[in-house]
Amino acid sequence: MAKVRSGLFGWIAASLLIWSCTGEPRQERAASGTVAGRSVEGAAQAGLNDRLLLAAAKVALPPPGVQPGDLPDPYSQGAQAVARYCSSCHNLPSPTLHSATDWPGVVRRMWLRMDRLPADLQVPVPTVAERHYILDYLVANALQVSGATLPAGPGREIFSQACSRCHALPDPYQHSPEDWPTVVRRMEQRMTQMNVEVPQPGEIGAILTYLQSVSARRR
Ligand code: HEC
Ligand code: HEC
Repeated sequence: MAKVRSGLFGWIAASLLIWSCTGEPRQERAASGTVAGRSVEGAAQAGLNDRLLLAAAKVALPPPGVQPGDLPDPYSQGAQAVARYCSSCHNLPSPTLHSATDWPGVVRRMWLRMDRLPADLQVPVPTVAERHYILDYLVANALQVSGATLPAGPGREIFSQACSRCHALPDPYQHSPEDWPTVVRRMEQRMTQMNVEVPQPGEIGAILTYLQSVSARRR
């Protein structure tokens, strides 16, 4: 975070310096009727916007490591279409990355992006029928989310804050107390891969205690 900020501040400081050095000649150009000064400014602004957009788009992208064969039911039409159409621009996403409620909105943004790309980039674009089974597949294999009321217990607050930033809040009952440590450890890794802040070790411990105590109650 600090690095990104100081990079941005450095860039702004450098731009101000360039601007202050070229202030005088630019006025002269403007007086003689050219717009060169303005277009330099416009290009700099466009450059900054591009950098901001790219940096923002790269936060919380699907993490690396999912191969087509790892997808649930890998020979189904849905899995094959996801593998074909969803890994051109970023890593292949796992269907458990979003809830059944959230996938339609995410996928709608993706259709738009695929449809609007210049043809020379040659990104394969699914047909209407393929879009249906991609969405059906993602929804059928989606993340299981918690009910409206989250069971009480120490760690509940930090769990609901830290575990709902990339996807909806997961259902604490979907794993056993024995399995939660592996899942939580993998999520810490996901946070690092996806450029999302990892909670303090004490907070991770509290989340795990909460998940284990809640999931033990339903046995
Ligand atoms: C044309 C390039 C492109 C293709 C193809 C593409 N995506 Fe994306 N995807 C993006 C961009 C750009 C972002 C970051 C901006 C955003 O989140 O909308 C992104 C982000 C994501 C994210 C992370 C953001 C979030 O909301 O969780 C997921 C998940 C995702 N895409 C799923 C998919 C799926 C599923 C497919 C296949 C149906 C797909 N993408 C195909 C460009 C693409
Ligand atoms: C940085 C983004 C991010 C955060 C924050 C995050 N997750 Fe995830 N989560 C993912 C991704 C990516 C997947 C799908 C790939 C996978 O399962 O590794 C996923 C899938 C899941 C799944 C379904 C897969 C399974 O193994 O059952 C569960 C459950 C889950 N997350 C629990 C959590 C918990 C608990 C937390 C809080 C400690 C959390 N997540 C925080 C990114 C995140």
